[in-house]
Amino acid sequence: MNIILLGAPGSGKGTQASMISERYGLPHISTGDIFRANIKAGTDIGKVAESYIKAGKLVPDEVTCEIVKRRLAEEDCKNGYLLDGFPRNIYQAEVLDSFAKIDLCININIDHALLMDRLCGRRVCAKCGESYHVSTLGGATTCAKCGGELIQRKDDNPETVSARLAVYNDQTAPLINYYTDKEIIFNCTGTEAPASTLFAVVSAELDKFIG
Ligand code: AP5
Repeated sequence: MNIILLGAPGSGKGTQASMISERYGLPHISTGDIFRANIKAGTDIGKVAESYIKAGKLVPDEVTCEIVKRRLAEEDCKNGYLLDGFPRNIYQAEVLDSFAKIDLCININIDHALLMDRLCGRRVCAKCGESYHVSTLGGATTCAKCGGELIQRKDDNPETVSARLAVYNDQTAPLINYYTDKEIIFNCTGTEAPASTLFAVVSAELDKFIG
């Protein structure tokens, strides 16, 4: 089954993707993670992506679409995948339709007033990528899953978050209508904590398809 996770920055896409991937064995493909890995490794793609990510803007479509096309052609995607952070505008969705068949778009709606705190308070494991919020860490500085160091993403600051939310409203939100028109959208809300509350709703929907 080929799934897209759609939602504003901080709505919980990465958190849900990690849970879905673990339960259903689908590869979790996050364009943001791919870019961050490239930045860390100092590749040409990383050099292009870095300035856009720091500014909260979208990395150019031609770079992003090519990365996703290649990734979906890999062996582990043969029986399905979970896309997190792609597509992010109508053009990317149309390109995706030219080489993939999407079965379900999980759209996480959320009260945008929550997002600044969620993102500026987020800490991620430098080793395994697990996401936490400072309010639940009790002062811990290492990952509960793997012991890696917890760090703050460079784009999780008030100025960049504001830019990311503006890009979402302008370019990504129209995808809700795009997938509603295709009748493959599942709308849910990511406002309630903890994240397992939303996962219970999402997995009940996925069980209808995957079992
Ligand atoms: P990307 O890495 O995709 O970031 P994003 O979309 O901005 O989303 P986030 O990862 O910030 O948030 P999330 O929704 O995954 O929330 P999370 O689960 O972590 O993209 C980064 C950048 O890369 C972009 O700005 C762009 O420059 C570039 N890029 C990526 N894809 C691109 C594309 N297709 N085209 C062009 N450019 C692209 O949760 C957030 C926090 O909330 C965490 O602390 C978490 O613990 C907490 N939390 C989650 N759920 C709950 C809950 N239910 N209750 C309480 N807390 C919760």
